[in-house]
Amino acid sequence: MPSDGVILRRFEEADEPAVIALWHACGLTRPWNDPVKDIRRKLDVQRDLFLVAERDGRVVGAAMAGYDGHRGWVYYLAVHPEARRTGLGRRLMDRVAADLKAMGCPKINLMIRGGNDAVAGFYDALGYGTDAVAVRALRLIPDD
Ligand SMILES: CC(C)(COP(=O)(O)OP(=O)(O)OC[C@H]1O[C@@H](n2cnc3c(N)ncnc32)[C@H](O)[C@@H]1OP(=O)(O)O)[C@@H](O)C(=O)NCCC(=O)NCCS
Repeated sequence: MPSDGVILRRFEEADEPAVIALWHACGLTRPWNDPVKDIRRKLDVQRDLFLVAERDGRVVGAAMAGYDGHRGWVYYLAVHPEARRTGLGRRLMDRVAADLKAMGCPKINLMIRGGNDAVAGFYDALGYGTDAVAVRALRLIPDD
């Protein structure tokens, strides 16, 4: 079934509880990332790249992207379990890619958490390759 009746639009402040609930339902939250703080930070930086998918007034998907002047990045890609396999994840990623390309972004990177093997087939279907890189990270502001 195509993702009929679903509109993609920019995140609005009133979406915050629904988006956090979606992230929980999709297993994307972690104790060391405060979702409220993550949302507030995104609203301060390129907030137009924070998208939600809505059907019948309900948030069923979301994606948070950014362009750092070299690469585009995608975070918190989520489609509600009941709305999956209808093309919505692809629609969200296509929209993100179009928005980033319009900004002059030449390449999208994204990170897949260890253990999230199920998502590999999705990115394969969308044409995302695997680069031989290791991600290193340094926390600057603890959320907990
Ligand atoms: C990953 C996710 C966003 C996919 O959303 P979705 O709406 O079900 O994906 P789509 O229906 O648009 O699927 C697009 C393509 O990927 C394929 N695909 C989707 N999920 C897949 C899976 N788990 N395994 C293999 N292929 C998959 C579909 O068959 C489709 O292929 P096609 O277009 O060639 O027919 C969704 O499963 C999700 O929210 N997962 C939990 C959160 C997560 O892991 N986010 C990504 C973090 S890196």
